[in-house]
Amino acid sequence: MHGTPITTTAGAPIADNQNSLSAGPRGPLLMQDWQLIEKLAHQNRERIPERVVHAKGWGAFGTLTVTHDISKYTRARVFESGSQTPLLLRFSTVAGEMGAADAERDVRGFALKFYTSEGNWDLVGNNTPVFFIRDPLKFPDFIHTQKRHPRTNLRSSTAAWDFWSLSPEALHQVTILMSDRGIPTDPMHMNGYGSHTYSLVNADGERFWVKFHFKTQQGHKHLTNAESSAVIGQTRESYQEALFGTIENGQFPRWDVKVQIMPELDADTTPYSPFDLTKVWPHGDYPLIDVGFIELNRNASNYFAEIEQAAFSPSNIVPGIGFSPDKVLQARLFSYADAHRYRLGTHYEALPVNAPKCPVNHYHRDGSMRFFDNFQSNPNAYYEPNSFGGPTQAPEYREPPLRISGDADRYNHRDGNDDYAQPRALHALFTTEQKARLYSNIAASMAGVPDFIVERALGHFDRIDPAYGDGIRAALDAAKGSAAEANR
Ligand code: NDP
Ligand code: HEM
Repeated sequence: MHGTPITTTAGAPIADNQNSLSAGPRGPLLMQDWQLIEKLAHQNRERIPERVVHAKGWGAFGTLTVTHDISKYTRARVFESGSQTPLLLRFSTVAGEMGAADAERDVRGFALKFYTSEGNWDLVGNNTPVFFIRDPLKFPDFIHTQKRHPRTNLRSSTAAWDFWSLSPEALHQVTILMSDRGIPTDPMHMNGYGSHTYSLVNADGERFWVKFHFKTQQGHKHLTNAESSAVIGQTRESYQEALFGTIENGQFPRWDVKVQIMPELDADTTPYSPFDLTKVWPHGDYPLIDVGFIELNRNASNYFAEIEQAAFSPSNIVPGIGFSPDKVLQARLFSYADAHRYRLGTHYEALPVNAPKCPVNHYHRDGSMRFFDNFQSNPNAYYEPNSFGGPTQAPEYREPPLRISGDADRYNHRDGNDDYAQPRALHALFTTEQKARLYSNIAASMAGVPDFIVERALGHFDRIDPAYGDGIRAALDAAKGSAAEANR
């Protein structure tokens, strides 16, 4: 008696899956043992390239529920009051490889795919409202400082602090990273942010600039450096265990969805560029407006198929939602689909987890792994325009024209930008205890960094607030004191 027969990939039953085919019991093996060859060949292809950044991740499916009417800002159907839209949310760390420990100090990715009735909308954000750079030309350089040193193959604090101290626009994000929120306990206890400025367009063709916020309903919980070391000593998979376990137990985490809205022409008069990714829009100027909430309520049934093969791209927008002049966003519009074609292949968007849940009608044809319908139902409509009833453009989805001007040049992105005021506002929010932890986290991360780089970084912290620089100096002295004590 046996169960369902194992088959080859061509479907033929396999009689023996325990013993290779050999000439005599002691071997050697025969080349015609196709089953063995197929098994080994498939194993050699089980891994695909990991994401170049955000390689370690955890995700789940859920729903967006819209509870408030924001139709005066957008005609996007995904925001129709009372509507529900299925979604996928993948969290990640940025720098660690696929095997990295979850509870490391790092920014967390917060990547959403909304399967809307008008196409997939991907909002590929982080758990921070700002980023380290404002010009995308610096992204590969920045990421090199977070990854491994080419010779030692070790992560390098010297590289990180060298780059940050030469790039004052990073100070805001560095302050967040080194604060308590730099190590959330798990994905449920942190906020998400779209970070970039996007645009909304309403039914009258009016454009508004928008920032998206996802506020945890579970509250903020984070780990100190010592607590995270203890967690990592116990398990490298603390986020996967917590997220998967919570959802499996029927406790469904939620985040309130809110937006900040800026009328299109305000962008000409704000004292800071609203398209600068290193800046927030102060809530006092642009208050949070309620939209609804997202809930995660279903674990993936297959991690590789549904989470590892998930492909998010900021270029996936839907009618009523648009881009903005933010230079980093502009570069990301190119980068992600390019990464997916390399990591997953030409037809990555047809993989079940990435496939829209609405009709898809385009004229792209063929290509490797074209495993789905090639529009046989209308075989004459394989170019456009055509006389055979193929899909046509829909002018009602046009965006209003965007006013732009300026001479083409490589503008110094540091000219006229205040990199200190917003980190100052954040530093001022912290309690005495939060500040003490911030200073000691920074001091700890500077261990082994050459003095001239530390001094350059301290100069920037002094400009944010002399108390910030002095706090770090005191923490550095305390760390040196403890090291000397330990060596006696
Ligand atoms: P508000 O006092 O209105 O808001 C302060 C914000 O800071 C809240 O959103 C709060 O998040 C958040 N916050 C608290 N602790 C931390 C932390 N350790 N890391 C990151 N964020 C934290 O002030 P403003 O809007 O005038 O902004 C002041 C500063 O607050 C900004 O310079 C920026 O650094 C930070 N901030 C501002 C945001 C914005 O969109 N305006 C968003 C997030 C941070 P929560 O409500 O979840 O507790
Ligand atoms: C992942 C590029 C900035 C959030 C990635 C990937 C690339 C990339 C190539 C891997 C994609 C994949 O293989 O699936 C860039 C570039 C940036 C940039 C070129 C700037 C110039 C940002 C910013 C944010 C962000 C500012 C957040 C606000 C993410 C997230 C992921 C990711 C969340 C993981 C998505 C997932 O879960 O699959 N990025 N990135 N990135 N990036 Fe960026």
